Amino acid sequence: MTRGSLLLVDDEEKILKTLGRALRGEGHEVTEASSGRMAQRLLGDRSFDVMVIDNVMPELSGLDLIRELLAAAPEGDRPQIIMMTAHATIESAIEAVKLRVLFDYLQKPFEVEELLVTVARALDHQQLRTQHRYLLSERDEEFNHYGLVGRSRAMQEVIRKAELVAQSKSTVLITGETGTGKEMVARAIHSRSAQRDMPLIKVNCAAIPETLLESELFGHVRGAFTGATSNKRGKFALADGGSIFLDEIGTMSPALQAKLLRVLQEREFEPLGAERSQTVDVRVIAATNRDLNEMVTKGQFQQDLYYRLNVIPIHIPALRERRDDIPVLIEHFLRKHQQRCGKLIDGIADDVMKRLSSYDWPGNVRELENTIERAVVLSTGAMIAGDVVSVLGAAPATAPAVLPALNLHRNIEWVELETVRTALERAGGVKKDAAELMGISQRALSYYLNKHRTSLT
Ligand SMILES: Nc1ncnc2c1ncn2[C@@H]1O[C@H](COP(=O)(O)OP(=O)(O)OP(=O)(O)O)[C@@H](O)[C@H]1O
Ligand SMILES: [Mg+2]
Repeated sequence: MTRGSLLLVDDEEKILKTLGRALRGEGHEVTEASSGRMAQRLLGDRSFDVMVIDNVMPELSGLDLIRELLAAAPEGDRPQIIMMTAHATIESAIEAVKLRVLFDYLQKPFEVEELLVTVARALDHQQLRTQHRYLLSERDEEFNHYGLVGRSRAMQEVIRKAELVAQSKSTVLITGETGTGKEMVARAIHSRSAQRDMPLIKVNCAAIPETLLESELFGHVRGAFTGATSNKRGKFALADGGSIFLDEIGTMSPALQAKLLRVLQEREFEPLGAERSQTVDVRVIAATNRDLNEMVTKGQFQQDLYYRLNVIPIHIPALRERRDDIPVLIEHFLRKHQQRCGKLIDGIADDVMKRLSSYDWPGNVRELENTIERAVVLSTGAMIAGDVVSVLGAAPATAPAVLPALNLHRNIEWVELETVRTALERAGGVKKDAAELMGISQRALSYYLNKHRTSLT
């Protein structure tokens, strides 16, 4: 049985004593208050799980006290409230339960057993509420932790806009060079919206062959084309009630552009081969690294569609146009990747920081993140030094001693794989020694071994 901290409020000494004893007998921790004012003082000092309160008391009635409590404490900090009420005031108690101000009420006279059962239920309820709040705050934490980072004025503006449009259902068009964080902003908008519990469905228009994209977006019925052996729901139908993220919208063919325009205008579409149209309630978030305005001028993108998409434009500037963000992003990625590979790194050497801050980052934040991840993986000291940091514009002064020289054109996966392979080779296959060579924990090495299992065997 759940035990908890209770505040028992009644102006009659005898009732306080009797009920207090019964509740303590169940293992609860009980504090007694003989007036509304006294209860108020106690509530100001500490929190309780459940408050059991008499309604009719001189000076400050139970309902008055509850009213003050509602005004003072945010919902999460309030105890569950059970009111003891006589027949004359039962109406207001019922009303308060309906408004969820009261957890429940007990009509006098009641059996002590009734009180014990109601208190137990209130405690269970309170516990669930606490757990729920914890989960929610954990989710927020995660969002902040791996969420949008940036202190430049440009990025603050992007974040502010994203928060604002999250509250609406308007179509959003996110523009920016590759790797600037367009997808992250789209996710941030969805996760802050009223539809956050519904899906965010992503479609990369550039990655799907044109002939398949239509069926991917709108679905098809059986027999719609050769190979359509069963009905298939499209991404729009799957996103119903939530959001759809149309990435690389600039690559869409004119025919599909027309179909998409119709969804945006009428909120309906037909699956391929279907006779009837379907309606959807979806927020559209589109992204592109192309200049759609220019494409409109050149006749490559439909003007009406552009206007429909561009209701709320969010432009993310290139990283080289907001250099203030570079140090905070570096710090953020250092922390993230240290955690991933179980290393402790104090920071980055000054000269390296200078180099990274003045580099142009053509691949924007993605390139910066990959560079930091690589540096963390390869680093063997407490500080990240120049030999493990390589960007296209500035080659490393010397190749790292133990580890393979970096090929700048290959990606981080390759670097990881090569690092692990070389370390294992030098350690004669002894994992403990290989981990030591790499300067990482054995657990971290297992993580990498597992990740590259197929390539390593
Ligand atoms: N402001 C930011 N804060 C933290 N991480 C970021 C930020 N911007 C981008 N990133 C990281 O950079 C990487 C690239 O971001 P994202 O995929 O959102 O970019 P994109 O603009 O969609 O790129 P592309 O045009 O290539 O699709 C991701 O790993 C993301 O986590
Ligand atoms: Mg993207």
